[in-house]
Amino acid sequence: MAGTIACLPCRQPYISMLAKLRRGKSPAANPAINLSFDGSKGSNGHPKSGATDAASQTDATRYKHGNTDLIECRTLVKEYETDAGRFLALKGVNLSVSTHEFVAVIGKSGSGKTTLINMLTGIDRPSRGEVLVGDTAVHRLSEGQMAVWRGRNMGVIFQFFQLLPTLTVIENVMLPMDFCNMYAPRERFDRGMQLLELVGIAENASKLPSQTSGGQQQRAAIARALANDPPIICADEPTGNLDSKTADSVFELFSDLVARGKTILMVTHDKDLAKRVTRAVTVADGEIVDEIRN
Ligand SMILES: Nc1ncnc2c1ncn2[C@@H]1O[C@H](COP(=O)(O)OP(=O)(O)OP(=O)(O)O)[C@@H](O)[C@H]1O
Ligand SMILES: [Mg+2]
Repeated sequence: MAGTIACLPCRQPYISMLAKLRRGKSPAANPAINLSFDGSKGSNGHPKSGATDAASQTDATRYKHGNTDLIECRTLVKEYETDAGRFLALKGVNLSVSTHEFVAVIGKSGSGKTTLINMLTGIDRPSRGEVLVGDTAVHRLSEGQMAVWRGRNMGVIFQFFQLLPTLTVIENVMLPMDFCNMYAPRERFDRGMQLLELVGIAENASKLPSQTSGGQQQRAAIARALANDPPIICADEPTGNLDSKTADSVFELFSDLVARGKTILMVTHDKDLAKRVTRAVTVADGEIVDEIRN
């Protein structure tokens, strides 16, 4: 999200909204949190994207590029040039994820989990192979298209939260809506507050991230990931820095989101959590070596 700061016209709208928050006014009525994907448009009527349209299809449907699942990675290779020579971080990975699945990606440190997630979210590009998400060939998007596509279709959650430190919690949550011009400007604050309520930290809205705990920051990052109501959430060790109780409540939140229609991929080292998802895939040395359906 770092690149999005420059896109903000100025801080003034945030400051006036913050003033409203600090005066203790409650959000306007019915901010219409939509987590159900039964429409292909945001509440401002903007089309949300190909992948969102795709998410409303059934898995029997063949998408535009021939994929039958919501997410399909085909023979994904990621090659790095290092001082020691060529290094293959992904060695031809095939992975399909259907709508409403909750998939855990597990594996030892250095096995390629983050690399795989980065390919799916378009944060990085494969050296070879294809990433198809709904009707979008992600690996073919330009940088500009990628940022907008990701902003509307993928909620990305990082292990170390990556909240912008100079923006408050509510400002961080509103940022994706501003960046992708989703929802009417007057709705964004109320939607942000509703999301913070959903993740249980509304009372921290006006704090800077540094003034909140690790668990609260991770919840803020989850709220931010949900800002544009994306059909897919990719989380890279979202519970890795949390105590077991907080990790469990974040996991419960994810389970609830899957029940509401989201598709979630979650990297985790936690074997117990991996037993509680729909499917756990194990990555080793850049390959998927095992898959367990729970
Ligand atoms: N930019 C890069 N240049 C060279 N090698 C890289 C680069 N990024 C990652 N790697 C290597 O690719 C392999 C996979 O890295 P990756 O970050 O995907 O592992 P991981 O499974 O997420 O590990 P962890 O559990 O520690 O987060 C590692 O051996 C790593 O050193
Ligand atoms: Mg990693």
